Amino acid sequence: MHPSFHTPLTQELGCDYPVIQTAMGWVSTSQLVTASVEAGAFGFLAAAVMTPQECEKEIQFIKSQTKRPFGVNIHAFQPGVDKIVDMCIDYGVTALSYGRGPSAKIIEKVKNAGLKCVPTIGSSRHAKKAVKIGADILVCQGHEGGGHTGATPTWLLLGQVIDQNLGVPVVACGGFKDGRGLAAALAFGADGIAMGTRFMMSSESPTPDTTKAEYVKAEVTNIPVSKKLDGLPQRMILNPTLKTLEDSSKAELLFRAVGNSLKYKSQTGMSVSQVIKTAWGMTKNTDMTLGQTLMASNAPMIIQKAMVEGVPNDGVLPSGQVAGVISDLPKCSEIIQNIIETAAFSLKRLES
Ligand SMILES: Cc1cc2nc3c(=O)[nH]c(=O)nc-3n(C[C@H](O)[C@H](O)[C@H](O)COP(=O)(O)O)c2cc1C
Repeated sequence: MHPSFHTPLTQELGCDYPVIQTAMGWVSTSQLVTASVEAGAFGFLAAAVMTPQECEKEIQFIKSQTKRPFGVNIHAFQPGVDKIVDMCIDYGVTALSYGRGPSAKIIEKVKNAGLKCVPTIGSSRHAKKAVKIGADILVCQGHEGGGHTGATPTWLLLGQVIDQNLGVPVVACGGFKDGRGLAAALAFGADGIAMGTRFMMSSESPTPDTTKAEYVKAEVTNIPVSKKLDGLPQRMILNPTLKTLEDSSKAELLFRAVGNSLKYKSQTGMSVSQVIKTAWGMTKNTDMTLGQTLMASNAPMIIQKAMVEGVPNDGVLPSGQVAGVISDLPKCSEIIQNIIETAAFSLKRLES
């Protein structure tokens, strides 16, 4: 193996290769995580959309299938988050990843238990603060990345964060799919890459075939960022549902959000007070307005139409722009093997 693949990232996480499979709601299930970690990457279970009971079953399944280390992704204001954190500690999960609004209390607790804290940041000004409150690894997701995303392009953000010399491994994220990307990221000074869309477009991802077909068809220029789903910039494939959301007035969006929030309440068994507590927590602790928080209740129901029920035109398809240059659905082991071989070839070519 090329010596450049042993990086501070592989040392911290105990994986074979400097490649992270990121958390994607309803996609990064135990099935995908097992496949990615067995292939030598480090995988995160997307527990931010799970109840503690669901999360425990998923952790147990992964542990029954593999001895390799893996991580869990949480949202600091999801119902039952404390239970999930305790569970991660009890089951000996290796790392916890999170995005917006990390709670210092949670971070302190998991660090004391020896878990690695792996936030995703989308802006260079968040890097220093994230490390100050306990980040062990920084995943820097640039504008071209899938799902919620910032305004700075991947390579610019990566340079901005590496130049701050914060003393933790820095991972490039947003737009990666192959070995050339890994070689370029390592040459740029990163310690590895993180990928979402590429792993979603694998044979082991649980996304229904009808929906995967839409990702295969997508073009780079047809995967815009919109605030119309949940009030925050989110990158999705432009399809009939996203077009309808884009054309809706504020009142129509809020009306739809209230309906979807009631449906989500009955799906998850959350009480009205939990819905309000979650919304209040998000509003109080992040820079979201109450309107945005209410709109956030839209996302779970509309995303599940495509990602779980397999009716892509009735739902939305969170995606990185990289889907526009991916046209196959290989196994995770093939993705990783190909990345490692191509990256080794690229690095050797430079050395010679
Ligand atoms: C379908 C989908 C669902 C996602 N869901 C989540 C999520 O639940 N939590 C999270 O932190 N990030 C989520 N993301 C963002 C990814 O974890 C990752 O940061 C992003 O996809 C990286 O960009 P890439 O797709 O270009 O590799 C999602 C992305 C996609 C494509």
